[in-house]
Amino acid sequence: MPEMTDTMTALKSELTALVESATDLTAIETARVAALGKNGKITALMKSLGAMSPEERKTAGAALNVLKDEIAALIEKQEAALKKQALDQKLANEQIDITLSPRPERRGTIHPISQTMEELAAIFADMGFVVAEGPDIEDDFHNFTALNFPPGHPAREMHDTFYLPDDPEEKGEAAKKLLRTHTSTVQIRTMTKQKPPIRIITMGRTYRSDYDMTHTPMFHQIEGLVIDKDTHMGHLKGCLTDFCRAFFQVDDLPVRFRPSFFPFTEPSAEMDIGCSRKDGGLKIGAGDSWLEILGCGMVHPSVIRNCGLDPDEYQGFAFGMGIERIAMLKYGIPDLRTFFEADIRWLKHYGFDPLDRPNMATGS
Ligand code: DAH
Repeated sequence: MPEMTDTMTALKSELTALVESATDLTAIETARVAALGKNGKITALMKSLGAMSPEERKTAGAALNVLKDEIAALIEKQEAALKKQALDQKLANEQIDITLSPRPERRGTIHPISQTMEELAAIFADMGFVVAEGPDIEDDFHNFTALNFPPGHPAREMHDTFYLPDDPEEKGEAAKKLLRTHTSTVQIRTMTKQKPPIRIITMGRTYRSDYDMTHTPMFHQIEGLVIDKDTHMGHLKGCLTDFCRAFFQVDDLPVRFRPSFFPFTEPSAEMDIGCSRKDGGLKIGAGDSWLEILGCGMVHPSVIRNCGLDPDEYQGFAFGMGIERIAMLKYGIPDLRTFFEADIRWLKHYGFDPLDRPNMATGS
């Protein structure tokens, strides 16, 4: 069967050349069909075996099977090589050089309000306070009535409240929606939800319809509340004195408490810190002048009762202050309104490095 052997030798080199010259997966598929497909060259030879004598068929069949396996293996090898090549190419194209250093220039800064809030949280956390939260959209009950501002009480008018349309799904005071005018609302939200002992601070946005050098319609407050069985005014004074000394980083900062009035505290006080004013400058610390810093007092028995607690069993103190105000004093920022102008130059100047920890937590 010499011509069969010659045909196979010629076919082997032809198909080998065809497979090896395939440079992509489509070409490989074309080669496979040409060799082993239904009308492929090897398949055609297989079919021709039927016309042979049994003797011839035996040798030619065996040889043809070898050729078929060889070509199939070659196709498989070439296909694997092409696939690997394609993957390597893809990986090379998609490579990210993670050794590249980050941009050297500092981009964003931490807003002084965020920085101050982190400092406040760090100082009060050290004293065992936990952070509580309440909504910006409040109702008349939580913002006023429960805090001992009865309807028609003149102190309500001091708050320049933004009222919202009534909520048809609620009744009475709960239906009268407003933007909270102070964070004292969270006193009520906490006491109605949680049994004493309570030791919380809350920080967030508050709203009043007011706008000048020292007022913006939105500003931030921090509120503190401590309720237990025998918490007294001495605790209030000690806690707030320690706070002011830590916050302003003046160990012997003079402080004083002046009698004041808030509907939700009795007695009520305002706290001042010592300072000196020279040549138009302000320095916090011992001096001949005082700066008002916060409002505070012993929680009014009616407020405790309004929250479902017994004022004969529980008592405590509360305080509240403006976060912008203390940030302005600490960081020498002269105009409140600039906090909310989103002026990139102001943020670059007064903002804080994002990688810096709040200085209270590091003790620096
Ligand atoms: N809520 C008061 C305000 O917005 C601040 C305040 C005063 C809060 C005395 C208190 C407090 O908790 O005891 O002006």
